Amino acid sequence: MTYYIRNAGVIGSGTMGSGIAALLAAVGVPVVLLDVAAKGTNPGDPSAKRNAVVLENMNKLKKSRPAQLFQPDDANRITTGNLADNMNLLEDADWIIEVIVERLDVKQDLMAKLEEVRKPDTIISSNTSGLSINAIAQGRTDEFRQHFLGTHFFNPPRYLHLLEIIPGADTDPALVDFMAHFGSETLGKGVVLCKDTPNFIANRFISIAGNYSTAYAINNGYTVEETDLLTGPLIGRPRSGTFRLSDIVGNDISVHVARNLYDAIPQDESRDVIRDPGLTRVYDYLLDKGWLGNKSNQGFYKRVDVNGDRQFWPMDLTTFEYVAPQKVRFDSVGKHRGIEDTGARIKALIAESDRAGQFLWHLHAFYLAYASRRLGEIADSIAAIDNANKWGFANEIGPFEIWDAIGVRESVPRMEADGYAVAPWVHAMLNAGHDTFYQRDGSGRVTGIYDPQVGSYAEYAADKQIIVIRDLKNAGKELAHNGSASLIDLGDGIALVEAHSKGNTFDDDVFSMIERGLDILDQGYVGLVISNDGDNFSLGANLFFAVMGVQSGLFDQLEASIKRGQDVMMRVRYAPKPVIVAPFGQTLGGGSELTMAAARVVAHAELYIGLVEMGVGLIPGWGGCKEMLRRIVTPTMETQNADPLPHIQKVFEQIALAKVSESAMVARQMGFLSSADHIVMNRWHLLSEAKRIALELSVGYVPPARAKVYAAGRDVKAALTVGTFMMRDAQYISEYDQKLANTLIHVICGGDLSAPTFVDEQYILDLEREAFLGLIKEQKTLERIQYTLQNGKPLRN
Ligand code: NAI
Repeated sequence: MTYYIRNAGVIGSGTMGSGIAALLAAVGVPVVLLDVAAKGTNPGDPSAKRNAVVLENMNKLKKSRPAQLFQPDDANRITTGNLADNMNLLEDADWIIEVIVERLDVKQDLMAKLEEVRKPDTIISSNTSGLSINAIAQGRTDEFRQHFLGTHFFNPPRYLHLLEIIPGADTDPALVDFMAHFGSETLGKGVVLCKDTPNFIANRFISIAGNYSTAYAINNGYTVEETDLLTGPLIGRPRSGTFRLSDIVGNDISVHVARNLYDAIPQDESRDVIRDPGLTRVYDYLLDKGWLGNKSNQGFYKRVDVNGDRQFWPMDLTTFEYVAPQKVRFDSVGKHRGIEDTGARIKALIAESDRAGQFLWHLHAFYLAYASRRLGEIADSIAAIDNANKWGFANEIGPFEIWDAIGVRESVPRMEADGYAVAPWVHAMLNAGHDTFYQRDGSGRVTGIYDPQVGSYAEYAADKQIIVIRDLKNAGKELAHNGSASLIDLGDGIALVEAHSKGNTFDDDVFSMIERGLDILDQGYVGLVISNDGDNFSLGANLFFAVMGVQSGLFDQLEASIKRGQDVMMRVRYAPKPVIVAPFGQTLGGGSELTMAAARVVAHAELYIGLVEMGVGLIPGWGGCKEMLRRIVTPTMETQNADPLPHIQKVFEQIALAKVSESAMVARQMGFLSSADHIVMNRWHLLSEAKRIALELSVGYVPPARAKVYAAGRDVKAALTVGTFMMRDAQYISEYDQKLANTLIHVICGGDLSAPTFVDEQYILDLEREAFLGLIKEQKTLERIQYTLQNGKPLRN
């Protein structure tokens, strides 16, 4: 049977259902979203009344921040209705996902109804967080059960990478393969196969291993701040650590998920951590007070106003008072925090005997031993347990990877001496002379993975679409390297330039490397990709150097540097072979200018791109103004008598207000991406997709012809300048804002041209450069830059 999903139904429009509908709409799948009919209404009542539940949830979805919809128009792909009157809308659905209240009887009832409307082969799944998949499908026909499985998304579905797939006892294996592929390729998720056990993998770990470390902290006198420092980036976890994370998720949710689990796992020898007296004392107090975390404005932390300064005060876990923040210091942390590799850092920390070392040892000893005891029960593969923990909680490395890093053979005796029982299969593995869970080749790439059932390593089926830059470097593929960037051979005649400066900001070293990348296009390479493996593509130009240049009076060098940036962008644009830029995450200022210079962009859907220079008192100087004119204004002005003003106004507003896209789809509407550019849902498939497009374009590639850009001249300039005068007059903007805005207007109208003209790109580039150099010498611009460098946010002056 060949499966496909052209139409989907989502039942339940709450937090998760509406988010899943938004995700499907983003990838072009039309969705029918149904919820209960509003209480007290009857068939035939106006739909606004009858469908009030789903409509209200749609409204929440449209307003959600961070946005759940990738672009507002996606809402048009979602058809709403109610379960009493509109079940027929599901007749065409190829996949129906149930996302209603977490109650077995209610879910079973719904499945009986879905059985009546579904067509043969329609896929049905449940988003349950932990009820038994087999139990939900009980009483249904064989055909239904063969097409039924669990698809567990995490909250919020757009942003959390993990998708747990749980086959039932009778699920067609071909369907499991299809859904894993659809989840990974189309929806961009990290798919993990789980067994049908309570709370599956990620929530089982957070309830047991997560609560163990929380209880350990509470019972051993670690403060909220100490705990969050020790359980954050220091050990490869998000900044929210333990207690802040609980506040974000909701302290009631963490408690209910864990407490509901207790009775469902009588065979779990560690389940008593859920009822730990210290943990219970603290959580009962918080729940009793209604201090549920962010949603009730206080939990383990509270925002406190101290003389107009908003501070974040942690709770004292003994007295339940909020106390002033304190600097946390541990000798061992100071000593080891600089170790770059997370596994090596954890190894060094747990070898220390101070309080930090003690805590981190016990946390990991429990976590790793627990993981060993759950293998076989909740998942068959070591990688499934690692991936669920990484992708579900944005952790850098999973438990078995950590264990390999700290040394399995050395750590097992210490764990057992401290009372943490390690599963017998780990002993068997060590006794057979195998020291690690993963086998790696000389470059560190995983080649084998230990399979306890056969007692040896199975070949590791890596996702062929994932290219890891570190692996390429370890394999000797790095062709050139400097302090800020590398040139790497991606294979098949494609090269890669990777920026690896702080924030992947652009400086002369990055430009040198792009130039080298362009040079080797003449030496047998057929295409170039520019991207990296960081959290963000690029935060833009390195402003620190700009400030140093101004303060040392090195204006000639500054000018040369701006000119060099412009030249690099133009070389990228007109390169004889295709240059693909693959941006993701924050892609600001120079990052967006480089993106717009590409022959083709291959962007991750989570793209936050914008020309934000005005925030630091500058205007785009590397072709950002020129590109916006070329993309937004010029095409319309090729029609006779067209009115340039609304289009120039759009360019002006995007730059003057430093607008940043909320997704790659929105970036396309803003003009940063063209309709030919690609959007990739799976972040980790971005590089291979960029390489594929580079190869595809390289056949018969013709660079673009030198473009002319529409410059509107002084009439439009005057009209826009009146606007900024009025804004200033009404005190909406500062005097300096007005100066900046007028400088921008000067550039995007083509300076002092007396009449509209199509000019060469270089003409606008020269205006950009001149304006940029004028502004960077201004005291108020320097203040803005310095403030942003220090505080990470813009200053209005
Ligand atoms: P929610 O309470 O926000 O939404 C549930 C929706 O189901 C509501 O719109 C409600 O009107 C509807 N509903 C209630 N009774 C119904 C019935 N008898 N028939 C049809 N619809 C009915 O809940 P949420 O958070 O969206 O959870 C939905 C499912 O997703 C649950 O199974 C939950 O365990 C699971 N889940 C929740 C996560 C979360 O963080 N909220 C994460 C992952 C899974």
